[in-house]
Amino acid sequence: MPVYHIKQTPALQGEVHIDVAKNAVLPIIAASLLCSSPVTIRRVPHFTDIDSMLSVLSSCGAAIKRESDSVTISPAALHTPENAAPFHLLRASILVLGPLCARLQEGSVPLPGGCAIGQRPIDIHLKGLRAMGMTTTIESNQVAFQGHIKNANIYLDFPSVGATENLLMAAVLTKGVTRIENAAKEPEIVDLADFLCLAGARIWGAGTGTIVIDGVDRLTGVEFTPIPDRIEAGTLACASAITDGSIFLAGARPDHMRSLLHKLRESGMIIQEDARGLYLRGRARRAFDVHTLSYPGFPTDLQAPMMTVACQTRGQSIFMETIFENRYMHAVSLCRMGASIRTEGRLALVQGGQALIGATVEATDLRAGAALMLAGLIAQGETLLLDKRSHIARGYDGLERKLNALGACIQCEHASVTSPVLTK
Ligand code: UD1
Repeated sequence: MPVYHIKQTPALQGEVHIDVAKNAVLPIIAASLLCSSPVTIRRVPHFTDIDSMLSVLSSCGAAIKRESDSVTISPAALHTPENAAPFHLLRASILVLGPLCARLQEGSVPLPGGCAIGQRPIDIHLKGLRAMGMTTTIESNQVAFQGHIKNANIYLDFPSVGATENLLMAAVLTKGVTRIENAAKEPEIVDLADFLCLAGARIWGAGTGTIVIDGVDRLTGVEFTPIPDRIEAGTLACASAITDGSIFLAGARPDHMRSLLHKLRESGMIIQEDARGLYLRGRARRAFDVHTLSYPGFPTDLQAPMMTVACQTRGQSIFMETIFENRYMHAVSLCRMGASIRTEGRLALVQGGQALIGATVEATDLRAGAALMLAGLIAQGETLLLDKRSHIARGYDGLERKLNALGACIQCEHASVTSPVLTK
């Protein structure tokens, strides 16, 4: 189990490179199941969620070759998954459902796992597949599917990122025109569509509320480098905001980060954008309000790091989490470190300006873990961040390493579960 020892840090300074986006790589890995020849994905970071997703594909019959930062996937002989274990490790494992419906016509897929930040049902995915002519049933922790995918007009009850991706993938090899309305507009959807189009698909409107897909007979394997991770870049921007830093995020895409950059500027930071990335200077001083929404609204994945920022500003910040119903678990740990936060359902009131003091806290999910690592940077003394389920490595390839490259002092120890550190 990773245990992070975090010391109070002076202003962060320097330059780091942003990895490609976890949430772009995962659906592209799933989409490679639709191709008739091998797919190579470049610059793939070492997130454990990506390793789990590659195991998901292996269990469906795909051959995987990983060489330094490239992954090659050969989806030769597909079949119903043989091993349920990797499916339970991450939410994105459900993204193989659309491709398998398109390729196999009959089979079953184990239910997904992932961060416990809400109920996270898959009803919108299944409703869309049923509209496309599939029969789906959930039984014994599996989704069974049967039928021949047909083109359809689909309306999503909520612009779910995963459902949009699944239905887009289910439709690309389907004869005729499929239309997905109230689709998610996240940059990762556009990236998936770009990948599929490069492989031969015909897709219009990705990044808008209506996606139109004209089915093709086959997709061929391609080489592809996914977009940079706006959530990693946002987390590092928050780290700079609390330490009065001066950093450059090489490769960051400011056009994917508008909502966050507006908030940070509103709060007093100086931010310059150029073709190479993003310069951030100064401290977030003024309180702000965060209302999480689907893209281009404020991303729920940055709500936790922004709450750490709010702890350091003058005045009261108001948070409204509208995407997930259980995403304030970091607030308890922040309070333990001296923050003043009151949560009431989806609302959180943060009274900024309280000094944080180092304490032993636990990463309850991926982004909560990142928020607490940031809190440790400004807390007096040492913070011990226990990550019993290795959440942070699921979505960051060495967050502590990148922060250390900017001047932080974080040591990661791999303690056993019987370590005395756990009983502190
Ligand atoms: C993706 C991201 C995750 C991000 C989230 C919201 C990946 C791998 N993960 O997750 O990091 O936090 O988008 O931006 O890309 N819902 C239903 N029924 C469904 C599907 C979703 O009720 O069938 C609900 C969920 O419970 C949640 C909301 O819709 O409350 C958003 O979920 P969704 O957009 O599907 O998120 P994910 O694709 O799981």
